[in-house]
Amino acid sequence: MENYDSKDMASLTMTVLMTPDMANFSGKVHGGALLKIIDEVAFACASQYSGHYVTTLSVDEVHFKQAINVGELVTFLAHINVVGRSSMEVGVKVMAQNIHNRTLVHTNSCYFTMVAVDDKGRAVSVPRLQYFTTKGRARYVAAKFRRDLRLEHERRLAAIHQRWNVDSVDEEVLEQQFNNIRQSELMADTLVTSD
Ligand SMILES: CC(C)(COP(=O)(O)OP(=O)(O)OC[C@H]1O[C@@H](n2cnc3c(N)ncnc32)[C@H](O)[C@@H]1OP(=O)(O)O)[C@@H](O)C(=O)NCCC(=O)NCCS
Repeated sequence: MENYDSKDMASLTMTVLMTPDMANFSGKVHGGALLKIIDEVAFACASQYSGHYVTTLSVDEVHFKQAINVGELVTFLAHINVVGRSSMEVGVKVMAQNIHNRTLVHTNSCYFTMVAVDDKGRAVSVPRLQYFTTKGRARYVAAKFRRDLRLEHERRLAAIHQRWNVDSVDEEVLEQQFNNIRQSELMADTLVTSD
């Protein structure tokens, strides 16, 4: 048996063959099937690094710009970008390989925030991450900016929810806002059709 150092455990790579049970009705890989694997990869990477089981606190928006076909080999490259006391941002890069023509496509990347927990589900501290390399420092800086963006996003969403809550909205304010938005939409439509 060998011990390992957590600094060597900040990345993880996993390759999965896309099988027919993952397909949607058009024969491509179902987005939900892919998300499940990405979440498992993020879980494995954060658990490996922290030495604890982890739980998913959030996942940033995911865009599927390239479809993945059944029969392709998909590689998930996961890396711990930054750590807090108990939280870790895990970046997952998804690469799809066509076995026959040997093309490799970067289909998407996404970012998870995972929290290390004890056996009662309470957040526990994780090892400090060292930022020795240029890549590591770039990941760290980008992750810090993403964290600020997440906090801003969360704050603005909460404000929207509070102001435009269907059960408590001020009807007069709503009417005015509704008309403003509809009017600008109609004007935009008119401009497009008169082009
Ligand atoms: C994740 C969880 C353990 C955090 O519990 P908590 O009581 O908020 O714990 P803490 O206050 O100690 O926060 C833990 C970490 O999460 C971060 N965090 C908590 N809520 C956050 C939020 N809304 N936004 C950003 N970070 C947040 C804290 O900043 C802290 O990070 P740090 O230790 O690196 O500084 C708890 O929310 C949980 O169990 N959630 C359910 C997770 C789950 O079931 N996921 C699967 C989806 S079904």
